[in-house]
Amino acid sequence: MADESVVIVEVGPRDGLQNEKAEVATQEKLALIAELADAGLARIEATAFVSPRWVPQMGDHEAVMRGVGRRSGTVFSALVPNEKGAEAALAAGAQALAVFTAASESFCQKNTNCSIAESIARFRPVMALAERANVPVRGYVSCALDCPYEGAIAPEAVAVVAAELLALGCDEIALSDTLGRGTPGRTAAMVEAALRRAPAAMLAGHFHDTSGQAIANVEAAWQLGLRVFDGSVGGLGGCPYAPDAAGNLATERLVAHFAAKGIETGVDLARLSAIAERVVGRFRPAGGTLR
Ligand code: HMG
Ligand code: MG
Repeated sequence: MADESVVIVEVGPRDGLQNEKAEVATQEKLALIAELADAGLARIEATAFVSPRWVPQMGDHEAVMRGVGRRSGTVFSALVPNEKGAEAALAAGAQALAVFTAASESFCQKNTNCSIAESIARFRPVMALAERANVPVRGYVSCALDCPYEGAIAPEAVAVVAAELLALGCDEIALSDTLGRGTPGRTAAMVEAALRRAPAAMLAGHFHDTSGQAIANVEAAWQLGLRVFDGSVGGLGGCPYAPDAAGNLATERLVAHFAAKGIETGVDLARLSAIAERVVGRFRPAGGTLR
């Protein structure tokens, strides 16, 4: 029995599928989510209650959230930008919410049409609804290393936004390398800055893998005490408002990395790899950019 464990958050059904050009039917999404839960993933971000005009791929959010239902051993969460999204997500049965802002003003504007301060003001009513429903809220800080519009982001800028989200009442902060061009050294500097404002137990790592460094970045963050990491099955993903971002770190690589270290994730790697193989075949039949 491993004496240490990490928690893997599967974000493929949201961060992965939000970026796919191929049309994905609600039933196909629900089948994928059920398989991921069967493989032992205890936290799955199922969909995003964002504007369907901004991200049409998530337009079936209500049907997806209602469709996943409840099952023991897995918490199904929804990404929400504002009160409207939070109300709808909770009404459809979301067991956890995730709000999102950025450490870069330009990205925040492009992604949510508001400043960082305005985005945080929009989260106040979200927090009140979550508290009433007794569901936890994660807060994403995008562009924690680089911004597609502003370049490198100072670690302190990330720490300040993380602290604001914690002060608002978020239960966890997902430090997010949206562009996926981070290196372990820069990741460590950013995580160290965040750790001056928040305990490691409240921080998570969300890495895209554009430069193939995401596992090394996870390792750097793990060395500093982080124990929650995001993955997207098959490495699907990107962000429609971060033009250069490739896929997320593949969940199966994340699980394999910790398995090799003898660290428990609770995920059945063989089952997950079989799902990943099918996902890659479906979305990247010619090999594509998935690692
Ligand atoms: P806006 O146009 O400024 O909003 O968009 P608005 O308040 O003026 O409303 C415009 C329309 O959107 C209205 O509808 C609203 O009802 C509707 P209309 O009257 O025109 O028909 N609306 C909504 N509809 C559904 N759900 C809602 C909602 N709110 C308003 N919640 C808004 C502002 C935030 C809505 C928009 O910018 C948006 O939806 N942005 C989402 C962008 C997005 O989803 N990006 C990808 C996810 S973030 C990410 O991938 C990064 C992450 O993975 C971490 C990382 O890697 O960095 C999390
Ligand atoms: Mg992301």
